[in-house]
Formats: sequence, C-alpha cells, structure tokens
Amino acid sequence: MSVFKTLSGTPTSPGQCDDDAYRELYTALYNDAPDAHARAEAFLRQQLALAAGLPCDLPEAPEQLTAWAEQRCADVASEYAAYLAKRKQGGEREYFQNKAHALYFLQRVAPTKVVDGAWLEGMLNHWQDLRFDGLLTTYLEELGKGDPRQNHVLIYRKLLAEHDCDDQQGLDDEHFVQGAIQLAFARCSAEFLPEVIGYNLGYEQLPLHLLISAYELRELGIDPYYFTLHVTIDNVSSGHGRKAVEALLDLLPLDEGRAAFFQRVALGYRLNELGVGSTAVIKGFDLQREVVAMLERKREFGQHMHSDYCKVDGQTVSQWLSSPGKIAQFLGAMERMGWIKRHGPPQDSRFWQLIEGGTAAMFGVFDGYEKQLIHDWIAGDWQGPRQRPAVHRDQPHQADEVAPTDPELKSLQDNLLGQPPARALELLMPWLSAQRHHRPAGLFATRRFVELRTRLR
Ligand SMILES: [Fe+2]
Ligand SMILES: [Fe+2]
Repeated sequence: MSVFKTLSGTPTSPGQCDDDAYRELYTALYNDAPDAHARAEAFLRQQLALAAGLPCDLPEAPEQLTAWAEQRCADVASEYAAYLAKRKQGGEREYFQNKAHALYFLQRVAPTKVVDGAWLEGMLNHWQDLRFDGLLTTYLEELGKGDPRQNHVLIYRKLLAEHDCDDQQGLDDEHFVQGAIQLAFARCSAEFLPEVIGYNLGYEQLPLHLLISAYELRELGIDPYYFTLHVTIDNVSSGHGRKAVEALLDLLPLDEGRAAFFQRVALGYRLNELGVGSTAVIKGFDLQREVVAMLERKREFGQHMHSDYCKVDGQTVSQWLSSPGKIAQFLGAMERMGWIKRHGPPQDSRFWQLIEGGTAAMFGVFDGYEKQLIHDWIAGDWQGPRQRPAVHRDQPHQADEVAPTDPELKSLQDNLLGQPPARALELLMPWLSAQRHHRPAGLFATRRFVELRTRLR
C-alpha cells in the first residue's frame, strides 16, 4: 500500500515523502515528546482514514461476534493441524529457511512486540467501572501483573538480547507502523474508545502465524515462549480473545448510538491490517540481499579499519569498501579466492574464521544476528548438525527480588509512603505505561496496582 508519510496532520502530497516518518513518530511517542498527544491524535485520524478503504470481515451485528470468533479459532486450529500433519510426514519448515531468517523476523516485529499491550493503557483510568474489567485485566496480564517472568515486553526484550539481535538499523519505516498505532492509542484512548475496542478485538484473535512461528522457532533453537504464551493467553474460550468480544458487548451503547459505535469499532479493527504483518515480514526475507545490505551498512565504519597488506582480486579491502554498491562483487571475489567456501561448514572458510571466536581478528564487529546471516549464507545448502530444539527455562528469581536498590523504585516507594489507597493508585498509574512498566519501578507499581484495585473494588 502506498501511504503519504507526513504524519504531523498537515496536508500532504505524494512528493512529500519522509523515509523515516513512522520510525520518528514511534520514537517521539515512546519518549514522551512534548507534542506527543497532538501528534498521536492526528496520526490516528490519518490511519483510520486509510483503514476505511480496507475490506472488513467482521459480522454485521455485534451479537454474532462470539460465534464469529469461535469459527475463526476453529479454522486456525484445523489449518494448524494440516501444517503439523505435513511436518510429521517429513515436510520442510514453511516459515523460516534458517536461523538467520528467524532472527530477521524477531528483529522486524520487535517495534510492535516491545510495546505489547500499549493500546490498552488508557483502560487504567476506568479501573472503577466494571464494564472495563476484561480490557483492564488483559492489559495487566500483558504486563505480567508485575511479575518479570510474565511481562510480555520483558520476555521479548530478553529474547532479543539472548540472540544479540536488538539492533534496529536494518528495519524499514513500515516496521514501525503497528507500534506507532499502539503507542498513539495509549495516549488517546479517551478520544478513540470504540476504535481501541475494535483494534483489541483484531489483535487478540489467535492467528495461524503465531502457532507456526512458535513451532519453527523452537526447532531452530530459539525459545518460543513469547509466542506459545500468546497461544494460551489470547484463547477465545476464556483468554484475551474472549474478553475482547465481551468488552465490546458490555460497552456498546444501548441507545441509538449503537450502530455508529459499532462502525467505529469496525474501523479500529481494520487498523490491524496497516503496516507489514508477521507473514509479510517472513516472506520478505532474502538471504543474499540481507547479507549484502548488512555489509553495506557496516561498510562506512569499516572502510578505514583494514590494513592494506592483503589484496582480494587485485584490490585492498579498503578499496573494496571505499564506495557503495561493491559488496556483492567483493563477496564473489572472496569466493573465487577460496576465502569463502559456500555450501560447507562455515568454519572451513577463512572469512568466517576472522569473524567467529574470541581471538578472531574481527571479533565484536558483528552482532549475533549479523553473524548468523553470514554463517547461514556461507553454509547455504550444507546441512550442519541438527539444532537442539529450544527449551524454555523459567528465571529462578521471584518478582520481589528485583533490584531493591534501584533509584527509581526507591523514589516511587518513598512517594507512596503514607498515601491513602486511591491517591496511591493515581501515583502508580504513570508507571504502568509502555515505556515504564517493564522497569523495576514499573513492575513494582504494577503489583501494587493489582493489589489496590482488588482491595478498592
Ligand atoms: Fe501480549
Ligand atoms: Fe494478549
């Protein structure tokens, strides 16, 4: 889809394209820029106008939603059963060609995953209204109710850190669209309540790609816990999927505003289709192209770092790296010289020996994802030893043991001293935002919020 990318709310024309507009907006919203609220609102209006042009598969009447959600879930279950049957008969992986491909996916959906739940942040303000209970519970569960082992954002951040793939330089602007929508809703849910409900309805339905991704990540030695967690928590019989439908039915007006409200719900629902979705990200991977693009990004930093004593195909490494567009040729030259022996064990290639290992000359130049790209590109058709499937290990520490000396936590605890419960809830709320809830003070605040909410109701 082509989108005019001026996000400030001012009129735009196709000529006025800003290549990093979504990324810039995402960053501004995440970092509490002074004009964040106004920008979020203008952005949501613009995205809703785009969503209005998309087809909608919601049923016509809200009363049909429960049956609709159950049918969708049954369809996903049977498609997944068909996938499993194919795999059990020896079929190939259908999503990820190799581990680099899987890390590419994790990295590109990261802007969305690290703000998981943010679209529901505004539900905190409705803690006294029982009709919002399901949505608020969903939000608090996204936050793991303050348990770091169950906080979705923290689980995802740890996954990125474990595979050293949290760098965002290689991402396209479109990868920030969904995260920006979620952060915008976090600020403007009072103005866009029906749209938030609709967006949540779409987001919390279990998709097929979640099941297949989890299955294949595990095979590739990547802990799929973030994904399997969502298979159970978003289920349609009692989980977030069911709560999404119930919340809508509870909050729909009983008067003549009902139809208009549901129309706005349907519009918010379609926002889920904007940007690039998980399956599109997965299909967009091309190993050769990614290796070249990654080395091209490194080129500027690396061009003056090499001594000129060895030449590849008549040119020094510095000469190869001196201008853009020569990486593919450079790789080809290294293959011809025998520095890279593709379709075999990477450790047989001199180029790989320079990269991998504590004493390698280029130790530390490439992060985990970048090394995996080079590794899998060299390995090519070579089938190395089978990956051991990943097992999820719970962290041993208890929630209360988190960083007791953290200064933010300490100052929050000091501020809460002697405050009556209702005032304490107000003081805690800002700590349950997308930017803060996964920090030690945020986790503490979430646990206190959960306790006080139960006590005060
Ligand atoms: Fe989640
Ligand atoms: Fe969820």
